[in-house]
Amino acid sequence: MRDTITITDDRTGKTVTVPIEGGVFSSSALRELDPSLFMYDPAFMSTAACKSEITYLDGGAGILRYRGYPIEQLAEHSTYLEVAYLLLHGDLPSTDQLATWRNDVTHHTFIHENMRKRFVDGFHYDAHPMGMFISSIAALGTFYDGAKNIQNEASRRKQILRLIAKTPTLAAMAYRFSIGQPFNYPDNDLSYPANFLNMMWKVGPHYEVDPALERAMEVLFILHADHEQNCGTTAMRVVGSSHVDPYSSAAAAAAALYGPRHGGANEAVVRMLSEIGSIENVPAFVESVKAGDGRLMGFGHRVYKNYDPRATIIKKAAYDVFDVTGKNPLLDIALALEDVALKDPYFIDRKLYPNVDFYSGLIYQALGFPVDMFTVLFAIPRTVGWLAHWQELLADPDQKISRPRQWYSGPGERSYVAIADR
Ligand code: ACO
Repeated sequence: MRDTITITDDRTGKTVTVPIEGGVFSSSALRELDPSLFMYDPAFMSTAACKSEITYLDGGAGILRYRGYPIEQLAEHSTYLEVAYLLLHGDLPSTDQLATWRNDVTHHTFIHENMRKRFVDGFHYDAHPMGMFISSIAALGTFYDGAKNIQNEASRRKQILRLIAKTPTLAAMAYRFSIGQPFNYPDNDLSYPANFLNMMWKVGPHYEVDPALERAMEVLFILHADHEQNCGTTAMRVVGSSHVDPYSSAAAAAAALYGPRHGGANEAVVRMLSEIGSIENVPAFVESVKAGDGRLMGFGHRVYKNYDPRATIIKKAAYDVFDVTGKNPLLDIALALEDVALKDPYFIDRKLYPNVDFYSGLIYQALGFPVDMFTVLFAIPRTVGWLAHWQELLADPDQKISRPRQWYSGPGERSYVAIADR
């Protein structure tokens, strides 16, 4: 069998044969047939928009790897900053590289006082933390003159460090503002997740981060660091292809993540479990979903047609958190729901399994985060994924400014009609 595909334009009889590599063939073949011919592919269902070496995902087999390393191994042995280094640099760091990297990130955690005093303080008292987070990222770029200098490697590296270091600060600041509490400055003696928890929760002079909760936060950050060409990352690449500064591109990516079809599902899961209310109501709820009355939130995925490997890891991490915080009362309902759904032909036939969001909301809630913060918790670690893809995009000679074509379906030419005659 040859790894090629042959396409014939039946209008002209012209034929072109192109190689299939890694399950992909180049659409430039179509332009060879007819330069004015385009493929209609809304939502990029069958389009690979880039080559990428960062994340491998096999949705049928339930496999997720960062730079070749299985997510399960990274979640068990690694730290978020080590994974961030891996995603950006392609390899795990040596001891010295990691020490330098950690030191560099740690020393960029503070933000300009004007960001807090003038910018954040200007929000309405009940502003959504994710809306504040998105606009703060964009505003942050205005403080750094070199941000636009994206062709300069040293400048790019500086902006990458700043974005990774400052997103937890921006996130915690948005939360503290939303509850009217004074902002906690970063503590550079703490690990990346512990510093975030400290900025979130410290009220008096002392706050001790529980190591089990610090590790759970670390694991959640690792699991959310990248997921190849999802909606937010695609936004990062599309906006970044205009060569705007990375803060503006990251703000666009965060805006995409804000949507309920993307980063907002974990919030919906918690609401759904609360509405179900008790285990006895689970079978009736599943029947109502099957009858078309809403969806089982946290189930199903565009790419995974198997158990999302991140869901397996999160489910285990949830127990470690509950050992410290006490069990989230919604857990038993979630377990019962999963049990019923995984045995039901409706879900089996459609290959609907728990996704990353099914259990993450339960952990976030047990850790004390309000539901409004859930998407922000996703955005902090995903920042490194966005930046890894941005970097890859800029170095890719195949890439140009993103500019898809359209299938025009409006009226043909018609003459202007004076307003009095319409
Ligand atoms: N509950 C019940 N039925 C479902 C669900 C669900 N969660 N998901 C899909 N289905 C059904 C659909 O009704 C459809 O059935 P049909 O063939 O009888 O019409 C079939 O499964 C295929 O569904 P599609 O909507 O075509 O699948 P798509 O790939 O477009 O959707 C999505 C994927 C959006 C994730 C969907 O599964 C869903 O809405 N899940 C719930 C929301 C959720 O958990 N989102 C988080 C995703 S993870 C993330 O973004 C981080």
